[in-house]
Amino acid sequence: MEAVLSRKKTILEIQNMKTSGEKISALTCYDFPTACILDDCGVDIILVGDSVGVVFSGYENTLPVTMDEILYHTKAVLRARPNALVVADLPFLSYQVSLQEARLNCGRLVKEGGAEAVKLEGGENIAEIIRTVVNMDIPVMAHIGLTPQSIHRMGGYRVQGKREPEAEKLIADAFAVQEAGAFAVVLEGIPLKLARKISSELSIPTIGIGAGPYCDGQILVIHDILGLCDKYSPKFVKKYADVKSLISAAVSQYSQEVKAGEFPGEEHSFA
Ligand code: KIV
Repeated sequence: MEAVLSRKKTILEIQNMKTSGEKISALTCYDFPTACILDDCGVDIILVGDSVGVVFSGYENTLPVTMDEILYHTKAVLRARPNALVVADLPFLSYQVSLQEARLNCGRLVKEGGAEAVKLEGGENIAEIIRTVVNMDIPVMAHIGLTPQSIHRMGGYRVQGKREPEAEKLIADAFAVQEAGAFAVVLEGIPLKLARKISSELSIPTIGIGAGPYCDGQILVIHDILGLCDKYSPKFVKKYADVKSLISAAVSQYSQEVKAGEFPGEEHSFA
């Protein structure tokens, strides 16, 4: 009998990509059809990010996102049976209150949602939480720099680590999450030279967003690259398509045709 070869990406393969110098491509995704498309395109990591709250649910920021929302979207993505590694984001207040709650919520994303890893925002301050979750055999992706759940502390979405003491703190954060057992770390909104230094000194892969070209991989929000949500347009985003215009054109044409009695025709009807 022929062996069935699984093409499923594992955290080991993601880590090996750093060693071999192959760049890691990651995107956010929150629904079944998009997950099917992303996977057909060979994306390495799908993140069910709490950015879902902003680009899908229309919240001002990611703070209101709940465990139930992340679980719902994680399940939808997993129904596409992606080969990509699926990472689910821990929403604000689901891991900071106690180690017990952090363990329970990370476990729920794996057990109920089907996620293969979880992502948590924070550096030295959450190292103990990362260690605890990794000890449950749940792979953790860390996230440092511009961490959107800390919007009020940062005073907005500002580039982090521009000055020396801040940069030193970010380097300490990067080593703290690696030491705690994270298998990879997202570097968001930091200067490219700092991202290059962290990427070259860490043994785990760095996944950049607004952190320049020298990270081991890149992640962006799917709505941003498709031009689906023009609420914010950060400098680091490259818009690869204008899907909003495509949808507008299709919906306008449909509406006009319905009003003009041109749709449906007999070819769209039953005899
Ligand atoms: O929630 C999210 O989409 C993220 C990525 C952009 C890193 O955290």
